[in-house]
Amino acid sequence: MKVFETKKRLKNQINSLKNQNISIGFVPTMGALHQGHLALIKASLQDNAQTIVSIFVNPTQFNNQDDLIKYPRTIAKDLQLLKSLSNDIIVYHPDANDFYEGKIESQHFDFDGLELVMEGKQRPGHFDGVGTVVKKLFEIIQPDRAYFGEKDFQQLQIIRKLVEKEQMPIQIVPVPIFREKDGLAMSSRNTRLLPEHRGIAPIINETLREAKALFKNNSIEDVKQYVYRKMDENPLLEMEYFEIADEKTLKPAKEKISGNKYRGFIVVYAGDVRLIDNIAL
Ligand code: PAF
Repeated sequence: MKVFETKKRLKNQINSLKNQNISIGFVPTMGALHQGHLALIKASLQDNAQTIVSIFVNPTQFNNQDDLIKYPRTIAKDLQLLKSLSNDIIVYHPDANDFYEGKIESQHFDFDGLELVMEGKQRPGHFDGVGTVVKKLFEIIQPDRAYFGEKDFQQLQIIRKLVEKEQMPIQIVPVPIFREKDGLAMSSRNTRLLPEHRGIAPIINETLREAKALFKNNSIEDVKQYVYRKMDENPLLEMEYFEIADEKTLKPAKEKISGNKYRGFIVVYAGDVRLIDNIAL
């Protein structure tokens, strides 16, 4: 398995792949790899002759410095895990200064409003940081396909908008949420949960599934109230938001319009760990 730490060396490798017309699948990650990441990587290994995985805790997308410092970093374990999948994977594990060429800052993007709601509202600057790092990664790696998990559904829609606006010839492949047996969405942050919070966390997905069942015959407002009440009943979990939004525009929905697709989006704190999940309604 080849691991590249500098942009220059990786670019040479990419040029050689491009010259040979080898299809490239790309999975961007921030490391602390789990089964959810592996599902993305397996999809890429199936679809492409060469898979490239980046492992980079991108400083520009953290609006909270504490979250950046506490973000798990497990590079040795990550490389082992990747090796167990395939020895052919190329890993890009850059240093922030090499990647950003000394200027660790975000470009500002207009994603037609997708960036202004939910995570964009709660985490100012987050999607500028994500857009900046993903655009740079796409420019370096020039993948044919790039794989993104539906757990960060808003991020997925924003990346689709990014390639559309920047006219990048990259197919964005969505991969369904990978869950623990008890329903908790897999996340690198789960490793930081205290046992009592880990025990109660599956209630998040359980509530989303109840919301889906209620959505058929109830108003949007009633479903939202149900979810807020249910979370309120649980002293170990603190709701940040639950929103029902149009799947395409991500605009909060007030009433159901036939033919439109909706999703429920939830963010909950379990102690100081911020958990995120969503469901197609
Ligand atoms: O989803 C993530 O892990 C990150 O936002 C990404 C896409 C790797 C960009 O840093």
